[in-house]
Amino acid sequence: MEPAKEKESSVQDEAVGRSNFKNCNHIAFYRRQKRLHPGKSLYRALLDSATLSNDGVKLQIINEKNKVPLQVEIYAIEGNIFRIKINELSPLKSRYEVQDVLIKEPATQRLSIAQKEAGILVLTCDAEDRKLHITANPFLIELESQGETVLSVNTNGLLNFEHLQPPPQNSKRTAQIKEDISADSFQENQEDLGLWEEKFGSFLDIKANGPSSIGLDFSLHGFEHVYGIPEHAETFLLKNTSDNDAYRLFNLDVYGHKIHDKMGIYGSVPFLLAHKPNRTSGIFWLNSSETLVEINTKAVMEHVPSKAPPDITKQRVIPQTDVRWMSESGIIDVFLLLGPTPFDIFKQYSQLTGTQALPPLFSLGYHQCRWNYEDEQDVKAVDAGFDENNIPYDVIWLDIEHTEGKKYFTWDKKKFQSPKRMQELLKRKKRKLVVIIDPHIKVDPTYTLYSQAKKRGYFVKDRKGQDFEGICWPGSSSYLDFTNPEVRQWYAEQFAFKSYEGSTEILFVWNDMNEPSVFKGAELTMQRDAVHHGNWEHREVHNLYGFYQQMATAEGLIKRSEGQTRPFVLTRSFFAGSQKYGAVWTGDNVAEWSYLKISIPMLLTISIAGISFCGADVGGFIGDPEPELLVRWYQAGAYQPFFRGHSNIESKRREPWLFGDENTRIIREAIRERYTLLPYLYSLFYQAHTTAEPVMRPLWVEFPKEQETFGVEDEYMLGNALLVHPVTEQEATTVNILLPGSDEVWYDFRSFRRLDCPGTLKMPVTIENIPVFQRGGSVVSLKTAVGRSTEWMADTSYELHVALDSKGSAVGEFYLDDGHSFQYLHKKQFLHRKFTFHKNVFSSSCADEIGQYHTKCVVEQVLILGVEKKPTSVTARLHDGRDKEVIFTYDTKTSMLMLEQLLLNIGADWEIHIK
Ligand code: GLC
Repeated sequence: MEPAKEKESSVQDEAVGRSNFKNCNHIAFYRRQKRLHPGKSLYRALLDSATLSNDGVKLQIINEKNKVPLQVEIYAIEGNIFRIKINELSPLKSRYEVQDVLIKEPATQRLSIAQKEAGILVLTCDAEDRKLHITANPFLIELESQGETVLSVNTNGLLNFEHLQPPPQNSKRTAQIKEDISADSFQENQEDLGLWEEKFGSFLDIKANGPSSIGLDFSLHGFEHVYGIPEHAETFLLKNTSDNDAYRLFNLDVYGHKIHDKMGIYGSVPFLLAHKPNRTSGIFWLNSSETLVEINTKAVMEHVPSKAPPDITKQRVIPQTDVRWMSESGIIDVFLLLGPTPFDIFKQYSQLTGTQALPPLFSLGYHQCRWNYEDEQDVKAVDAGFDENNIPYDVIWLDIEHTEGKKYFTWDKKKFQSPKRMQELLKRKKRKLVVIIDPHIKVDPTYTLYSQAKKRGYFVKDRKGQDFEGICWPGSSSYLDFTNPEVRQWYAEQFAFKSYEGSTEILFVWNDMNEPSVFKGAELTMQRDAVHHGNWEHREVHNLYGFYQQMATAEGLIKRSEGQTRPFVLTRSFFAGSQKYGAVWTGDNVAEWSYLKISIPMLLTISIAGISFCGADVGGFIGDPEPELLVRWYQAGAYQPFFRGHSNIESKRREPWLFGDENTRIIREAIRERYTLLPYLYSLFYQAHTTAEPVMRPLWVEFPKEQETFGVEDEYMLGNALLVHPVTEQEATTVNILLPGSDEVWYDFRSFRRLDCPGTLKMPVTIENIPVFQRGGSVVSLKTAVGRSTEWMADTSYELHVALDSKGSAVGEFYLDDGHSFQYLHKKQFLHRKFTFHKNVFSSSCADEIGQYHTKCVVEQVLILGVEKKPTSVTARLHDGRDKEVIFTYDTKTSMLMLEQLLLNIGADWEIHIK
């Protein structure tokens, strides 16, 4: 190892310790917010100030203690969403409001006054059956949908808004401020409130605006299951928090992050979902500063008025989840999503933040990464290794060592003498290259990117107005200010083929270290008092930094192709809305069984927070997996949205064929299975792109009334048809599988065996594969054969697996386009088909008339699972009306009917009649 590398990894090793990162009690604004205890709110609404417009309602509320008025704006947003904004009525200066995350200004609906009497204002939304009750004293808002109170705001009186104040002139002033923020009930003590400065270890944060935190509580009525708010290495079902143990949303580079810790890691999506059998709802807290979320599920008494005389009220105990949000700065801007179904929630959230970008098809294949593939020769050898071992793969990745001295957009000329030649070779193999491009820029006046950015003033500044400098991979580095649209545009231009020497159209990008990671900074990130475009402090926009880098990179890739080609950009740091720009992965996990296990709840959480294209490093990034773990990880990864093997510079080589013939064979099988499944997966991504349905989804999304699914995190649905149960225990011989739904039929995906009695089953497993089941009532499209990469398979025929439900029916959808361009969007060049099995007729019809795409690809085979008896004849009716006899075989043991040599065009209408 070169000395430079040794230095780098030791810097990273230092970061491993948990003590480098804050606990809640290290966070001053948390301590200040926590001085306010549940009870009567300090705020009273001035209902007479309420003004109603076409848009919504505005009113003032006043803090009874310090008399500072706040302005509350309430909007009914189309599609069962309410938005509440709270800001100071007249702040000393403007407070930061998140930009660029909402895809458009949400369309509002008219509210009208239904009732206004002493202390109460009731508003109804004309267009939808929902209401809003505002109580003046204490200030409280209750949201009602279809007669049900779903959610209330400030129930526990925890609205806490630190108004901006002039900087203290002397210590007397500080004392005054301390008094201001302490209500009577507070115990004044000597603790450091971190008002104008805050220390963490040897780091000092100077707060130009002083204390500016905000907090608010919500009660979710009848809910005891809450999810979301990634990213944490935690359980899927959110846990009750105790003091000093809130879920933290603060993007941090945590190498080998601990499991079951609520600390913030690489990404943040401040979106929480709550589910109960008859409703799903959501809270989207649009704030990009450090945020803490407390959760408290409890049982409360509810009074139920009895209809029968005499007029007595009954009591019953119902669950309730209280959620308290606290952010370091900004304003309160919260969207309350009322569902009622899980899919409504996904739609509502996507209406605000956008849907998953449709990935290029190659990016759904397998990705081979390592820190590092050393040189051109190494790349060539690894690439050839896949062919020699008959393992498909689509993309090889180059980590930071491919550059000249960690200067991104450059190549180490000794190791990569001809990047274009290397890409030519990959292109001939119908494969792609991904290279890493981090946001830190080496401080080096001879590095053009640096000198240009410096000259133009494109770096984030420190408090004193100098370019911020921190340590990262290249040593001393400055950080591009991606919050500035001009910087983003300039950055995007760097991806132009003529600017980025050695890049070709098969080169795609990986954005890493974009929390941003600053090795010697407090918590290994940028100082909060650093200054961005518009004079905003870093604290305001911290959680958006990676979001903006990925946005600029994706734009750059689109631009370089003149708007023709879909980009692929993987990012480590993310925020709400990152789904629009590409994929995310869960960062530096460890080659241990527990990390394989936690990857499922982590990916489910990211998925339901809108980011479908997500994955975890297969094999575990840090350390060396034992072969069994590696095999199990490949098997799990093959059924997860983003599928990439990756390993640390210090771990042993890990290409799939290095673990003996037997393991190579099983890994090959897992990867090949992934490739056969790509038509289904691609169709799911289309669905995620158009209707915001998550690709990887928790069981409760598909079985919203089945309580036993609510806590499941060791298995999940891939789309609505496949239930996947990865094996995450060493030497497992059996697994307990929940097959939900009382009258569902399930089929083993590989043996086609029918399982009629859902429930929890103890199933034997071998090392060969992981349990996967197809749900009765679904149709899954597959390829009949596997090629060396996705592109090799473009003309390969299809096989449809039709799994009949208890009524003998099934439906499924299929999507196809050219796999790489935007023609599906601009020229409507796509196929969206629907397959239906009903009353012994299996038919293919158009699901979207707008789309047209010519393909010669045919359906070669159809497997129908759950056919009770052998048919006497099977005929196919072609779209021109001709009939043709179909060759079939029937397996009595599995009740599977196999139709062969069909040669029916995948894009045509046809019917298959079974008699
Ligand atoms: C970070 C990334 C890891 C990458 C390494 C070197 O640790 O998370 O994936 O390999 O940096 O770039």
